[in-house]
Amino acid sequence: MTATLPAPSSSLMPTLAGRYYTDPALFTREQELVFEAMWCCVARTDEVAAPGSFRRVQVGRESVLVVRGRDGGLRAFLNVCRHRGAQLCSEESGQVTRTLRCPYHAWSFGLDGALVAAPNLARMPDVDRVANGLVPVHLREWLGYAWVCLADDPPSFEDDVVGAVTERLGDPAAIEGYDVGRLALGRRIRYDVAANWKLVVENFMECYHCATIHPELTDVLPEFSRGHAAQSFVGHGAEFAAGVDGFTVDGSVGFPALPGIDQDRDRRYYAATIKPAVFLNLVPDHVILLRMTPLAVDRTGVECDWLYAPEVVAAGLDVSRSVELFHRVNQQDFAACERTQPGMSSRAYAAGGVLVPVEHHLALFHDWLRSRLGEG
Ligand code: FES
Ligand code: FE
Repeated sequence: MTATLPAPSSSLMPTLAGRYYTDPALFTREQELVFEAMWCCVARTDEVAAPGSFRRVQVGRESVLVVRGRDGGLRAFLNVCRHRGAQLCSEESGQVTRTLRCPYHAWSFGLDGALVAAPNLARMPDVDRVANGLVPVHLREWLGYAWVCLADDPPSFEDDVVGAVTERLGDPAAIEGYDVGRLALGRRIRYDVAANWKLVVENFMECYHCATIHPELTDVLPEFSRGHAAQSFVGHGAEFAAGVDGFTVDGSVGFPALPGIDQDRDRRYYAATIKPAVFLNLVPDHVILLRMTPLAVDRTGVECDWLYAPEVVAAGLDVSRSVELFHRVNQQDFAACERTQPGMSSRAYAAGGVLVPVEHHLALFHDWLRSRLGEG
């Protein structure tokens, strides 16, 4: 007698197959067609506040320098010397006085990227200093961050980045109330996650796991224990539990609400995903912004910033209870992603897994990815 497989239920939808999380060739295509083609959030602009300060960041397969010019402007360049290709800066961040000098043959580039000096340059009068200058990268500033795009012809920043947030919040003015660009960095924690970047995104996009792994978060936001992610509904903010006074690890009171937060948004948590790899969390008194950098098919760097009113940071007020809440959430989430990564190469997952109804919006992310990869 032949066993009959149960009929597929329409409440279950398929996920991506396991190879999407393990195949190095597919990872390279993602670097090219996603991270090197879209706007990526790379650094806080106040990290590079002084003229001559720079930060080195990874964008797709490229090393990029974000540099503050002597004119106060922020620019980005590929971190590659135009002479014979040496990496210009190997430090993660730093400060120069006037030029970025290549450690190999000492070509020097101005903070605007132009070639300004090189040994024997006087004997090469025909050298075009701009054409042989550093290769510029498109840069925009928003929410106090530098966003760069490696594409020759970048997609619309307003549609892809600003639009992603305003569409999720359901009101173009909503993000302005938080005045994120004015906020100051209270804490930054870096995580090195042994999982494919898409596992981290998918985890952030759903809350089916919240009741299982986030006890502190569901104490503050009880509706999360029902599995609905705040970001699956346009304009919806998850309400704080009765008796909870702030978005802190023990529900104790935080700081006064940011000045632009009206009554509707007080006591609520909002979240938005900005593709490909930024997560924005908004609560009345602070903002948490996570940026992911895919480092390998099974490894993702995450930089998480907790942002507060500048007065809170300047006064050295204790932010540890609010930091601790989302730090625990991050640790719980990343442990789940790391638990899942090995399964992606198991034959059990060769055809993928399934999405339950509260996860069905993840299928849109999968469709989006497939279309970026040219898979229709
Ligand atoms: Fe940079 Fe030669 S490679 S100066
Ligand atoms: Fe989570």
